[in-house]
Amino acid sequence: MKVAITGKGGVGKTTFASMLSRMFADEGYRVVAVDADPDANLALALGFPKEVYDSIVPISEMKKLVSDRTATSEGTFNKMFKLNPKVDDIPEKYCKTHNGVGLLTLGTVDTGGSGCVCPEHVLLKRLCSHLILQSKDVVVMDMEAGIEHLGRGTAQGVDAFIVVVEPGERSLQTYRKVKKLGKDIGVQRVFVVGNKMRDDEDIEFIKSNLEDGEALGFVHYNQSVIDSDRANQSPYDVSEETRNEIRAIKNRLLEIEAENKRNK
Ligand SMILES: Nc1ncnc2c1ncn2[C@@H]1O[C@H](COP(=O)(O)OP(=O)(O)O)[C@@H](O)[C@H]1O
Ligand SMILES: [Mg+2]
Repeated sequence: MKVAITGKGGVGKTTFASMLSRMFADEGYRVVAVDADPDANLALALGFPKEVYDSIVPISEMKKLVSDRTATSEGTFNKMFKLNPKVDDIPEKYCKTHNGVGLLTLGTVDTGGSGCVCPEHVLLKRLCSHLILQSKDVVVMDMEAGIEHLGRGTAQGVDAFIVVVEPGERSLQTYRKVKKLGKDIGVQRVFVVGNKMRDDEDIEFIKSNLEDGEALGFVHYNQSVIDSDRANQSPYDVSEETRNEIRAIKNRLLEIEAENKRNK
């Protein structure tokens, strides 16, 4: 099961990605969580201790690694860098593990426009497709807000995009754009998780904007989730109620996966 969590800024992508990762890990799956947001904060949501969190160097900032693997030399512009750098040992070497979840932090790729191909980007893209193709169990990618970066292809090849939405038109707008872009880049399945639901009306509102089968599930607004952020705790550890909602979503994902296997 390889999924990329997308959506508008602030809807709860990182919160959801962290909880889904920890839920899978608790059930014995091998989980790699990928922080693909340049404004990386998945480590905190996963509950990594501050010392570890502070020591994380994003892959794209590992200058020597990038230049060794892509055969470019630091500081020079070399058009002849490798387009197929070796990446298979990177997850093992650079994953930080806590609470059973292995975390890879990708960092920022300065693309200088959508057409730019730089060594960092080549390495990250290849690393992501390696993870998506080779990982046995679960990969959860916490994406940057919006959709522009999705076109750059780090999440291409995932089984599904999961778009987190709030009860509001603006985040649904982002969902529609992701859905269209998903089709364009060959990700057929785009699901929705409604987050910060206050009541049944919110849930009905989201459902009325979706086609049948698109909603994976709903997570209610929960004060203790926000409080966990303030206290620098993993939201997974604070609320049984929210964990149950995440479990239902995880089970739905597994059901869909099983249905899909049967139909193949
Ligand atoms: N179900 C929820 N109930 C209450 N607050 C939530 C919930 N989900 C997320 N939040 C809060 O919303 C804010 C943004 O969440 P975050 O996961 O960082 O969003 P994103 O990654 O989409 O930018 C955080 O303060 C988080 O604690
Ligand atoms: Mg985030």
